[in-house]
Amino acid sequence: MRLLYFFMLLIFTSCTYDEINVCQTDNPSFRECVLPIFQKHCVSCHSVGGSHPLILSDFNTISNAINNPEIDLVLRINDDGAAVMPPQGKISVQELQIIDDWIYQGKPNN
Ligand code: HEC
Repeated sequence: MRLLYFFMLLIFTSCTYDEINVCQTDNPSFRECVLPIFQKHCVSCHSVGGSHPLILSDFNTISNAINNPEIDLVLRINDDGAAVMPPQGKISVQELQIIDDWIYQGKPNN
């Protein structure tokens, strides 16, 4: 029985590492890596029925928001002061890196 737990733990840990590795490449997938970050940190306010009219819930709305110089999405998530988005505090360095790499690749819808 103990051996079974050991193998279950091993499988669980290896899956977790794989998922992280999938996103920490120079070419992270929009669907697997970028969208979940926006779903986790932004859509509670930035979706239909949310507290702010800017929608960030899918490829088109996120891509358009990044292209729009008037709303400075990239600056807002990198801000070190009061303008940071989400307002409760900056997303992690890894998450910022994934978004950055995806933009650098030309924002593919992958
Ligand atoms: C708790 C609610 C909340 C969350 C979560 C949140 N925002 Fe916001 N966001 C706001 C509010 C309110 C404003 C308007 C006030 C301001 O600009 O600071 C705003 C403004 C913005 C703007 C500027 C919009 C404009 O029209 O100028 C951008 C870009 C933005 N948010 C991006 C994001 C991103 C990206 C995330 C997730 C990483 C996020 N926000 C998470 C509430 C939120």
